[in-house]
Amino acid sequence: MNLLSVSKLNAYYGDFQALFDVDFHAHPGEVIAIIGANGAGKSTFLNAIAGNVTGRGNSITFAEEAISGLRSWQIVSRGIALVPEGRRLFSSLTVEENLLMGAYANTKDAWPLTHIYETFPQLKLKAKQSALSLSGGEQQMVAIGRALISNPLLLMCDELSLGLAPMVVHDIYETLTTVRERGVTLIIVEQNVRQALAFADRVYCFQEGRVSLTGRAGELKPEDVSRAYFGLAGAA
Ligand SMILES: Nc1ncnc2c1ncn2[C@@H]1O[C@H](COP(=O)(O)OP(=O)(O)OP(=O)(O)O)[C@@H](O)[C@H]1O
Ligand SMILES: [Mg+2]
Repeated sequence: MNLLSVSKLNAYYGDFQALFDVDFHAHPGEVIAIIGANGAGKSTFLNAIAGNVTGRGNSITFAEEAISGLRSWQIVSRGIALVPEGRRLFSSLTVEENLLMGAYANTKDAWPLTHIYETFPQLKLKAKQSALSLSGGEQQMVAIGRALISNPLLLMCDELSLGLAPMVVHDIYETLTTVRERGVTLIIVEQNVRQALAFADRVYCFQEGRVSLTGRAGELKPEDVSRAYFGLAGAA
């Protein structure tokens, strides 16, 4: 059984078509990485699932219910949370206020803050500070915590490691490992192909709005990944 099924998803910005007939699925508990060059449509895909970009047709099913066309808060309440590209924290709010913003669409089942602070102990120490006073890695942890507080079945993360030092990236992926151990299904968009292949069960490569390659992370050939990523015939 699939937790998420996407069938022939097309997405547009005005007249510009950003996604073409994308087929995608995730089983419960799977970790999926999406890789692809700049502009390939990775963020558009996550935003279409999260209800921030409207796809055409009835193409997205989550936990056996059609979710295409729902508002983003309705999608959060069904168990899908997004850590957006660039984190999008509220600069005038404290760390704790930012975290609590994630709970509003799912007040019934929201994680208690204590759970978030167990997962990210350093955030507890800075709970009353402005979110923007934190380091980039800590801000990313706030963005992940804000998504987790809604108690998602599916957590989608867009470019978590962008601009962060390798040690910080390591810590963030350690945290994601504990999240996956709780049974949360993960979709991560990751520019670092090596990181993506090491962490994920399965990988989708996007190229110019289409899925150019998909397979189990351990079974993809590097030359096929290069070709699917860059679109170069025969690239090694
Ligand atoms: N708000 C928007 N309005 C118009 N076009 C957009 C908008 N957002 C994205 N696009 C276009 O849609 C296409 C896919 O963009 P998207 O941001 O999904 O790619 P991406 O794979 O996430 O890229 P990156 O690796 O740079 O984050 C690109 O051609 C981009 O220019
Ligand atoms: Mg993007």
